[in-house]
Amino acid sequence: MTAETGQRWTLRGTHTEYTVAVPAHGRWLELVAWGPHGVSDGPSPVAYDGPVPFLTAGDAAPIEYATDADRPFTGADLVIETSNGQRRVGFVHTDARIDADQRQLAVDFADPVTGLRATVHYRVPAGTDVVQRWVELANDGTDALRVVRAGSGGFCVPTPHGALLSHQWGQWEQEFQLSHVELGHGAFGIGSSQGVPGHLHVPWLAVRDTAEPAGPAWGIALAWTGSWEISAERDTGGLTRVRVGRQLVDGPLELAAGERLALPAATGAYSPDGLDGLARVWHTHQRLLAADRLSPRPVLYNSWEATYFAVEAQSQLALARIAAELGVETFVVDDGWFVGRDDDTAGLGDWTPDPAKFPAGFDTFIADVRALGLNFGLWVEPECVNPKSSLYAEHPDWVYSVDGRPLTPVRNQYLLDLGRPEVAEFVHSTVDGLLRRYDIDYLKWDFNRPRTEPGRSGGVGPLDLDGAHVANLHRIYERLRRDHPGVLIEACAGGGARTDLAMAARADVFWPSDNTGPLDRLAIQYGFLHANAPHLLSSWVTDAPGLFDPRPRSLAFRFVLAMAGVLGIGADIRAWTAAERAEAAGWIARYKEIRDVVTHGEVHLIGGPDQARCAVQYTAPDENQVVVLAWHTGRLDGAGLLPSRPVRLPLRGLDPTGRYSHGDRHYSGSHLVTVGLPVQWSATHDADLIVLTRG
Ligand code: DGJ
Repeated sequence: MTAETGQRWTLRGTHTEYTVAVPAHGRWLELVAWGPHGVSDGPSPVAYDGPVPFLTAGDAAPIEYATDADRPFTGADLVIETSNGQRRVGFVHTDARIDADQRQLAVDFADPVTGLRATVHYRVPAGTDVVQRWVELANDGTDALRVVRAGSGGFCVPTPHGALLSHQWGQWEQEFQLSHVELGHGAFGIGSSQGVPGHLHVPWLAVRDTAEPAGPAWGIALAWTGSWEISAERDTGGLTRVRVGRQLVDGPLELAAGERLALPAATGAYSPDGLDGLARVWHTHQRLLAADRLSPRPVLYNSWEATYFAVEAQSQLALARIAAELGVETFVVDDGWFVGRDDDTAGLGDWTPDPAKFPAGFDTFIADVRALGLNFGLWVEPECVNPKSSLYAEHPDWVYSVDGRPLTPVRNQYLLDLGRPEVAEFVHSTVDGLLRRYDIDYLKWDFNRPRTEPGRSGGVGPLDLDGAHVANLHRIYERLRRDHPGVLIEACAGGGARTDLAMAARADVFWPSDNTGPLDRLAIQYGFLHANAPHLLSSWVTDAPGLFDPRPRSLAFRFVLAMAGVLGIGADIRAWTAAERAEAAGWIARYKEIRDVVTHGEVHLIGGPDQARCAVQYTAPDENQVVVLAWHTGRLDGAGLLPSRPVRLPLRGLDPTGRYSHGDRHYSGSHLVTVGLPVQWSATHDADLIVLTRG
């Protein structure tokens, strides 16, 4: 019996299905088909039962979760070692359970030699086209086992003409750079060994066939806030297998007899409509992850770029007064509010408001901010400590360290070993205490260094430091959300180094980059929106010239750009002219009118940051309102030499017979929208906001 005639199960999403089967030999689970409804009815696009000279059958099979016994040569997801150093755990299928509405499946396997059991879980959340997959291991044998590789699974994609991979690379100040690689044969890999998802790569990958770039797109992302790896390998038969999972930076994991280990969920997404369609599948999923917290976020002001560490009550209140006049709703005090924090060399760990900076008391300061009609937000970085702090003086053993080796400071700070229960208790009680003690509505939780030391004071080990840190971080977030449901949490890690699906389920918004320079920011947001929904995109209007990208763009450009997600202001608004303030107030008022559509609307990404124009279209769920944000990205050279004509942008995904109007302009759903942008770059007119109303 082949996989198609063996035991098989189909999971059903809104428009997609995912079918897996256990072949008659019962040693593994195979993919049969993954794509639109009905894709499993025909011959499997991924099955292979031909000859495999110099390989094994498993090396060529579309295995869902492969051990090194199944795929000895072409890459396994799970590698287990016994106490006498032997590998090659091999499973037999024992049981399976699927629910009546075909959205949850669990398939069990056991290894008769070691006693290891593995359950491969699937879940298709209602209303989505994603499949979440995770594996639970249980050591039911009598001997300890070592987990040498702990992948979450392999996703098999048919790429008969070649694989077109899309990924996001970056660095601090330049995150989420969308890039494409053609993979004829061989392997491609990305990952992070930093204890956070990192700036360098995003745990997200898209795969298309090179012959159909606008056609079917498969996406893979990992819900893990620590070190990770994703690799894609295209075999000689045209199948691309994407392996995804944790990167075991601390060495193999110990799995003692009787112990269990849950590996993080890898999520697959499918769209027939290329990368743009795939983005919408991810957005729908993340909106469901946000559940009842998916409401338009408040317009915020953050004082970081205006005052940096020179935080004190009077200047903050001066900013807050102007922010309130502009229509801002939440005022966030960033780094610098606590004792000892006058620059980045000291203070982290001592989370007490500095009385010298708030002489009338922090309560009074917050009350003064609130009296302006603003909510109040605060920055914290509770997992880090400066050597110059009382916390470090009291608990030097709380930081990650390797005995006898020097510590590696990054931004003058060390990292607390959050896996230690007493440290987790400190971090939770610090943040929880601030939220109980003060009237706080918004928290910006930062993290400004990777983990460098793979050890714990005292040298006990081996330990899964990465796993313990992430597990406690998630627990703390969950407790805080449960106990303080009204507080919004912005996840930040020196910009966008902590964005993954696990955080998308726990944080309310992400800070994607410290770079708010207009054109750099456009590229960052363009990449970000391919993997993340607009409600997660925190964006500020800052001063011109920008700190990192000084290329000039109008205030309108900067506002329209920040309106693509969650609008904030980070400029020194004390220095803004009356005209600038009036313009800002106008944009904020308009944002409040459209933010519901930005939060819930169907997103279409039009053009791109490297093209002369770039736009994002948001279509309200009932299609009655369409918001188009457009930016002109042209060069300054030669501007103004020719009279300009307006730019036209295609509307996407609308009923072609629908009638829409914008002022006295009228369009049908299939029309190009005329945006008021000139063809040439213009210093005064380089962005536009269009709101089309049906009827
Ligand atoms: C890094 C963040 O990305 C910035 O927005 C700011 O909060 C600084 N840290 C504060 O130290």
